[in-house]
Amino acid sequence: MLIVNIGQLVTPLGEAARGGEAMRRLEVLEDAYIKITRGRIVSVGPMAELRGRLREEVYDARRGLVLPGFVDPHTHAVFAGTREDEFLARCLGEPYGKGILTTMKRVRAASEEELFASARRFLGEMLRRGTTTVEVKSGYGLDTESELKLLRVIRRLGRELPQEVVPTFLGAHAVPDGVKKGEYIEEIITRMIPEVRRRKLAEFCDVFCEEGFFGRTESREILRAAQGAGLRLKIHAEELSNTRGAELAAELGAVSADHLLHISPHGIRKMKEAGVVAVLLPGTAFTLGEPFAPAREMIDAGLPVALGTDFNPGTCLIHSMPHVISLAVMKMRMTAEEAITAATLNAAAAVGRAHETGTLEEGKRADLVVFDYENYRQLPYFLGHDPDRVRAVLCRGRWAYENPHPCRDGDARPHGHG
Ligand code: NIG
Ligand code: FE
Repeated sequence: MLIVNIGQLVTPLGEAARGGEAMRRLEVLEDAYIKITRGRIVSVGPMAELRGRLREEVYDARRGLVLPGFVDPHTHAVFAGTREDEFLARCLGEPYGKGILTTMKRVRAASEEELFASARRFLGEMLRRGTTTVEVKSGYGLDTESELKLLRVIRRLGRELPQEVVPTFLGAHAVPDGVKKGEYIEEIITRMIPEVRRRKLAEFCDVFCEEGFFGRTESREILRAAQGAGLRLKIHAEELSNTRGAELAAELGAVSADHLLHISPHGIRKMKEAGVVAVLLPGTAFTLGEPFAPAREMIDAGLPVALGTDFNPGTCLIHSMPHVISLAVMKMRMTAEEAITAATLNAAAAVGRAHETGTLEEGKRADLVVFDYENYRQLPYFLGHDPDRVRAVLCRGRWAYENPHPCRDGDARPHGHG
């Protein structure tokens, strides 16, 4: 397949996370084409070089903007029920509390089919906003049976939906009421992790490392057990306070540490030395009314920063990567170029996929978005993000979404005058 008449094709380059100044280096091609064969990118170049060889299926991008498909490296998208009452009370000043257990009760009562239907809808909404790879965590089951149920739903999402789904086990998300923490950790280590491994249900293990949830020592114990079982590591670190979770991520060689609102300069240094990707989730800081993570300090220190949504029923209902890019630019002083690298290549690195996706280069999987924008700097700028600005989304070289109502000049003309 050939995609022709691309107004602007924009992509970072490479197969590894970019830090520091390299985050601002994007390849920008005006008037470009991209050629795809068997789900892979074969070549990218200027239209002028294409003359005379238009033999395959051709898609006309009509001067639109083409970017790599977004990678959302952090979501809790499989859940049951909603928590609008908690949200509205928090907006009036209530603190963040035990909402995870509210969702846990609903998840335990839900069938696998119900959980699948709910998550399929959310992942469809993400796809229509340009997300072509998405990490999804368990963590609302909180007993062996229910955690495995969530992970089976996550596996099915990956099998049945066009996006790639990266599964993460987050048994250590909270301790259920009436269960002693020590016993729960014992269950995670002796029952959940071995079952997850035996059934190959997750690629990553994550822990909510936070005062009142799992402390640093407890998190270390759980993550070491997971590592021993062959899982790669992620940590929810410094979300509500500083518990030196960033340092723990560095110590254990985690692939990413996520949130990092309260990270210290020491934590930044340790993560940089250990090659841990910082996954920032500005939708959560925005929703909770918390200070945003110090993205500028991290990038200036050379630490690779990625962006994700954290989509979950409690602390962030934003599941749009374009919206997250706008927040990153507005609230964390990231440049448009840095935010795009963070939402594509660096996010792919945060889920171990930088060799596969996240850039538009020969050999990579053909995951891309066609936007109705004139240039990439309009992406953070149009912060209302009309979903109809997404014209089409390609996953693995196939059209996973084609907008039946793409905006065009003249769409707003009253009927009868056009
Ligand atoms: O990333 N921090 C822990 N987990 C989610 C919130 C989950 C919930 O409240 O349901 C988060 O913010
Ligand atoms: Fe989270």
